[in-house]
Amino acid sequence: MEFTVLTLFPELVDTFFEHGMIHRGIESRLITGTCVNIRDFSCDRHKTVDDRPYGGGSGMVMKPEPLEAAISFAKEKTPKAKVVLMTPQGIRFNQQKACDLANRREDLIFVCGRYEGIDERVYTQLVDEEISIGDYVMTGGELAAMAIIDSVARMIPGVLGSEASSLSDSFIDDRLEYAHYTRPEVHNGLSVPGVLLSGNHERIRQWRKTSSLQRTFLKRPDLFETQVPTVEEKKILRQWCRELETLVNP
Ligand code: ADE
Repeated sequence: MEFTVLTLFPELVDTFFEHGMIHRGIESRLITGTCVNIRDFSCDRHKTVDDRPYGGGSGMVMKPEPLEAAISFAKEKTPKAKVVLMTPQGIRFNQQKACDLANRREDLIFVCGRYEGIDERVYTQLVDEEISIGDYVMTGGELAAMAIIDSVARMIPGVLGSEASSLSDSFIDDRLEYAHYTRPEVHNGLSVPGVLLSGNHERIRQWRKTSSLQRTFLKRPDLFETQVPTVEEKKILRQWCRELETLVNP
C-alpha cells in the first residue's frame, strides 16, 4: 500500500516515515511512504503557493496550480490512488474507517492544506474524499495525515511484529482494550493479578474480557450504545455488579 503526502513541510512527514513500526513496514516493503513538496510545483521565481482570497477577508488560500501539478505528479506514480483532503470539514476518522482503508489496500494521496485552505476548484475537481481527525482546527493537515497513515499501516499484515497485536486493539467491536502488565511482578507495592500468572488460557481470556468491559464501562460508556452487550458480556457485567454489591454491603 502506497502512502503519498502532499505538503509544504515534507521534513515533518519524512521524520515520521523514518521511525518506529512505520519505518519497519517501509523497510519490509509492505508499505511505501513518500512526500511531495507542493512548493516544488510553483512556477514563479518566488515559489509562491498561496494568494489572497477573492472577496477579501483575512488569511491566505493555497493556489490551485501548484497543488494541481503536485497531485498530477503523485498520480503518475500511483495512478489508482484515492486523493484524500485533510480538513476539519471531512468525515470524522475512527477505527472503523482505518480498518476499511487497510482492508481496501487502495493507495492513498493525502493533500495537506495550510493557511485558510485550498482553492475550491481543486477540491471539486481532484479530491475524492475529505477526512477530519476531530472537531478542532489545526494549522495544517500533516498531523492528520500522519495519524491516519499510522493507524491504517499498523493494520496491514506484517507491519506490527505479530498479527495478533492489532486484533485485540481498543475499539474492535466498540470495546476498549484490557489492562496490560509486564515484569516486575510487584511494582510500588502493587501486584500483577494472579490469574495472569496462572497459565490457564481460558481464565486469562475471561479476565481480559472482564477488564475490557470494566474499562469501557468506566471510561467510554457511550460505546455500549453503539454496540449493545452480548450475552457473555451481560453475564460478566452482572458478576461485576454482584462483586461491587458485596464490597458496598459486606
Ligand atoms: N486540518 C486542520 N485541522 C484538521 C482536522 N481536524 N482534521 C483534518 N485535517 C485538518
